[in-house]
Amino acid sequence: MGALTGKRIVLGVTGGIAAYKAVEVCRRLVEAGAHVQPVMTDGALEMVGATTFSALASEPVKTSLFDDPETPIPHTRMGQAADLVLVCPATARIISDIRTGRSADLLMSTILATRAPVVVCPAMHTEMWEQPAVQENLDVIERRGVSIVPPERGRLAGGDTGDGRLADPATVVAHVERALTEHDLAGRHVLVTAGGTREPIDPVRVISNKSTGKQGYAVAAEAWARGARVTLVTTVETPEPVGVHRVDVQTAADMQRAVESIDDADIIVMAAAVADFRPADPADHKLKKTDGAAPEIPLEKTHDFLVDLGEKKPDGQVLVGFAAETDDLVGNARAKLERKKLDLIVANDVSQPGVGFGYDTNEVVIIQADGSCEHVPLTDKRDVARRVLDTAANKLG
Ligand SMILES: Cc1cc2nc3c(=O)[nH]c(=O)nc-3n(C[C@H](O)[C@H](O)[C@H](O)COP(=O)(O)O)c2cc1C
Repeated sequence: MGALTGKRIVLGVTGGIAAYKAVEVCRRLVEAGAHVQPVMTDGALEMVGATTFSALASEPVKTSLFDDPETPIPHTRMGQAADLVLVCPATARIISDIRTGRSADLLMSTILATRAPVVVCPAMHTEMWEQPAVQENLDVIERRGVSIVPPERGRLAGGDTGDGRLADPATVVAHVERALTEHDLAGRHVLVTAGGTREPIDPVRVISNKSTGKQGYAVAAEAWARGARVTLVTTVETPEPVGVHRVDVQTAADMQRAVESIDDADIIVMAAAVADFRPADPADHKLKKTDGAAPEIPLEKTHDFLVDLGEKKPDGQVLVGFAAETDDLVGNARAKLERKKLDLIVANDVSQPGVGFGYDTNEVVIIQADGSCEHVPLTDKRDVARRVLDTAANKLG
C-alpha cells in the first residue's frame, strides 16, 4: 500500500498555461490510489476544460462557492475532509492570497478551511518568478509550513526560456507522497548504493552483473519521502529519485571511495551488487579479434569494503546489507550478516520469478543481528524499501 492509497486530495488548479500539466498530475494521483477532488479557478477554466479533469478525477470539478446546491457549506467542506491540498499550477495570485489569507474564491476558502498539509507548485514566467514580492510571499508561506515544489528551468509559454516552469508531474507526485508520509527520518542522513559495479576488461568492455539498481532507488526514494537527506551512490544511468543527491561510480573501487568519503551517514543501505572479482590487468587498448587467439582474462578478488564498514561502524549507525542467494537463503544470509557485522540483511532468492534483478517486485527476508526474521511476500520494491527502512529506523531509536 503506497502513501497515496485512499488519501483525499483536493487538487486546486489555477490560471497558468501549465494547467494542462495538472491533468497528468491528476491522472497519476488517481492511479496511485488517491481520491482526487479538482477545484478550478476562473483563470484555470480559461486555460483548460473542466471536462478533462472531471473525467480523470474521482469527483466532478468544482468551480464556485455558489453553484452547488447539494453542498450546503461548500467553502469549508472540502478543506475539512482533505488529507492534503495540492495547488498545481499555482499562480502568483494564489500564492499572494495564501500569504494574506484573502478568501476570494472556492479554492482559497478550501485552503483556509483545511488543517491538512498544503503543497504549492508555482509556475510563471521568469520575470514574475523573480519578483521580490513573489519570492517573499513564498518564503513566508513556506515558513508557515506550506511545502513548495520548486519550479524548473526550461521552455516557457510564448517561446521564452528560463526559471519558472512547472515541475515535472512525477516530481509533483513525489512531493505529495512526501507531504503525506511521516518524517521519521528527518535530520538523518541515509546513504544508499545501487546497481551492479562494472569492472573494465579493456577501455570498451566490462564485467558486470544483472543488477538494475531498482531496489536501491526505491530505498532512496522512500528515505527522502520520510524526511531524510539522501545520498545515492549509483552505477546506473536511471535518473535519481526526486530530492536525492547522486554520486556516479563505475567500479567496486570507485564505490568504496565514494562510500568512505561520507562520514556522517546514520543508515547505510548497501543495495548495490558489488563485483567479487575483477580483471587483474585491464588492457589499455581495445582487444581485437585480429590480435590472435581469444584472450585469457585473469581475475583477482575485489576488496570487500562492506567488511570495513562493519568493522569501523560508528556508534548509532545502522548498516544494512543485501544478499542475493539461489540456495539456503536464510542460512547464507545469516552467515554474511555475522561475517560482515551488519545490523540487518535483506535476503532474496533470485532464482524465483519476480524476485531480485530487473523486476519491479521483490520477495525478501529481513534478518536482524539478534536473529529475528521478517518475511516480506512478493510485492512492489517500494514496499520492500518501506519495510527495510521501518526496521532500520527502529534500530536508530
Ligand atoms: C495566457 C496566459 C497565461 C498566464 N500564465 C500565468 C502563469 O503561468 N502564472 C501566473 O502566475 N499567471 C499567469 N497568468 C496570469 C493569471 O492568469 C492571472 O493572474 C489570473 O488572474 C490568475 O487567476 P487565478 O489565480 O484565479 O487562476 C496568465 C495569463 C494569461 C492570459
